[in-house]
Amino acid sequence: MNEMSKIGPNESGENITAEDMDREVRVTYGREAFMSPEYLDAEKRLLWPKIWQMVERETDLPNPGDWMTYDVADESVIVLRKDDGTFKAFHNVCPHRGRQLVSVPDMIPDPVTSVSGAKPVHSVRGNNRKNFICGFHGWTFDLDGNNTYILDPQDWHGSLTPERTCLSEVKVDTWGGYIYINIDPDACSLKEWMGRAGEILDHFELDKMRYKWRQWAIYPCNWKVAIEAFLEPYHIPGTHTQLLAYGEYYSKSKQYGLHSVSSYDTRDAALKMPEASGTVRVGKGEDPRISTYELIRENYETVNFTASTETLVNAAKRLVDELPEGVSPAECIAHWLASAKADDAARGVIWPEIPPEVQDESGLAWGLWPNQNILHGVTFASPCYRVRPHGDDPNKCIFEAYALERYPEGEEPKTEWVYAEPTPENWGPVLEQDFANMEFVHKGMKSSGWRGAIPNPHQEQKVINLHRNLADWLEGRGAPVKLP
Ligand code: FES
Ligand SMILES: [Fe+2]
Repeated sequence: MNEMSKIGPNESGENITAEDMDREVRVTYGREAFMSPEYLDAEKRLLWPKIWQMVERETDLPNPGDWMTYDVADESVIVLRKDDGTFKAFHNVCPHRGRQLVSVPDMIPDPVTSVSGAKPVHSVRGNNRKNFICGFHGWTFDLDGNNTYILDPQDWHGSLTPERTCLSEVKVDTWGGYIYINIDPDACSLKEWMGRAGEILDHFELDKMRYKWRQWAIYPCNWKVAIEAFLEPYHIPGTHTQLLAYGEYYSKSKQYGLHSVSSYDTRDAALKMPEASGTVRVGKGEDPRISTYELIRENYETVNFTASTETLVNAAKRLVDELPEGVSPAECIAHWLASAKADDAARGVIWPEIPPEVQDESGLAWGLWPNQNILHGVTFASPCYRVRPHGDDPNKCIFEAYALERYPEGEEPKTEWVYAEPTPENWGPVLEQDFANMEFVHKGMKSSGWRGAIPNPHQEQKVINLHRNLADWLEGRGAPVKLP
């Protein structure tokens, strides 16, 4: 490790604040957060047991008795739906001698031989649960976590109180159609945690969207390297060079406390179009009827059918037939949205009404601290990402990507988590280009010649904000410090 790895709030200047970020101060930070075993240990103690974190979509546990496990670092949690439709969550551990109540193997055992196979386990799930019975000595628990059976309780001579023998409860709440948990009993509410970011995204009615596809992989980089690869459009010209033929990708970003947003921007402020901070915008080229279609189609088809919908792409395709030559970019966008909205309404997908100022503030994509990213639209949220550490290894992560979309009632596709090796066939050419950076960013940062990160203060604030907040939670470890 060179000198950079030692940079911290007490050694090289002061910690940065939200106000510093709004002023776009220039910062640097070292490799500690990505590869230090001590930092990983701090995450296990100070981060994952303290924060609100997304478990799954509510629709994955639709019925009473549906349950699943959620694992992060050393923690394993059982989340279930009760008879009254609410969720409960418990630590996945038997209070007797500490066996996992539900076994969560690393690999799926072969159903015939019970020997571990080659497929990693995403989560363990089931339905129609009435109770949980520990496989070691048979202690049993109801869906409220109460102990309902102990063999030979008289042997403890009255010491087995309900508090000593029940499951340990975990806080659970929902937002935007997601189930969230927080292991810390003293945590703030989820609403408070989501803050203004949650209020803005509420306008997009994520709770009414359903999975279109969902894939995951165990990837050879730290979880922060993985999420950072998707937090900023600054990498588009360098990584997804082919997209430059269709649009401009200059961007800005802004912190919202824990969370942060990125938006498209223009280098020349005089050329800025209103409400063009997200995916709804004209492309490059003389004729906005054609460039709008080409930009949205290229993104949709090469980012694994995300960042738009079939309805939006088809409505864009018709612009050239429905509008006269010489139409202005603003008229073109207005017509596009109106006809897509009507097409969707005809099939039973009613768009939410989003005030223009909210639309503009909502930007392109949200980094929900620390490990989620959501690119939202009026009828879709895609691509979305969630990453987690893979066990004890700072060099590996559990990487998940998925697409949500609004469907007519009952017409959503049936999906499940698919383990997908990072190939272009599995993920589409653009995500494959992102994968091609991640492993080598992680390797590159180990170089003794690396002087530390110097993220773009205008375009990469989501990355800076990730580390600023991590440092706040991890007693200053890895804190970004101001550059002179
Ligand atoms: S460890 Fe669960 S019953 Fe003994
Ligand atoms: Fe990318």
